[in-house]
Amino acid sequence: MDPALLHARAALDWLLELGADEAIGEEPVNRYALEARSAKPAQAAPPVAAPFVASAPADPVAAARALAEGAGDLPALAAAMDGFDCELKPGARSFVFADGTAGAPLMVVGEAPGRDEDIQGKPFVGAAGQLLDRMLAAIGRDRADPDPARAVYITNVLPWRPPGNRRPETPEIDRWRPFLHRHVELAAPRVLLILGNSPALALLNRGGITQIRGQWTEAAGRPALPSFHPSYLLRNPPAKREAWADLLALNARLRAPS
Ligand code: URA
Repeated sequence: MDPALLHARAALDWLLELGADEAIGEEPVNRYALEARSAKPAQAAPPVAAPFVASAPADPVAAARALAEGAGDLPALAAAMDGFDCELKPGARSFVFADGTAGAPLMVVGEAPGRDEDIQGKPFVGAAGQLLDRMLAAIGRDRADPDPARAVYITNVLPWRPPGNRRPETPEIDRWRPFLHRHVELAAPRVLLILGNSPALALLNRGGITQIRGQWTEAAGRPALPSFHPSYLLRNPPAKREAWADLLALNARLRAPS
């Protein structure tokens, strides 16, 4: 292959690895040419304010715990999370807190925002979210419906999109865990649906979703059912059979008198 093309390809791969996986303009911009043009008139550079550098707390997990405990309601929790220092924040576009009806009997916990969620500022709005909506509809639930008999509340372990849609890393899960526990306490669902390994690690301190799915357990003091993440179901359609069994068990639990 032409060496220039090879270099361009390597540069693109490098950008993708850094999480720059989408174009934000219709036309490419040659920043070198812009720099050269703006450098021509040799003027003294205006004084530049020192960049603001947020000081990371020495113990981020303890800081998260203190902030989470101090949040008395969901808006206060959202504000505390939005202000919490995190390496993911500068690379993300939106803070993604939750969707649906807080106080719904069912709370769904996913992993982290992806590209579409980052753009819209809501959890589960991309392809996996559309599958999740169809799964919930199959058991008579709808995130847009405030009627408690149908309502759902949806959130993620992380409120910021990890670069390149990578999985949350263990230190990130540890840091955001106190907020998620407080989120569950404040939303007070009757039942939790835990979708995939990351929320299982955050809420149950264990992964291995293939082994634990379909087995009722307890998380943050509530009955919780781990199941497959819809992204996994999109990649592995045969696993929908087990996911369906989990949904039926979830529905039976939600319909049982509390
Ligand atoms: N996957 C998730 O876990 N959460 C989202 O919000 C979207 C995709």
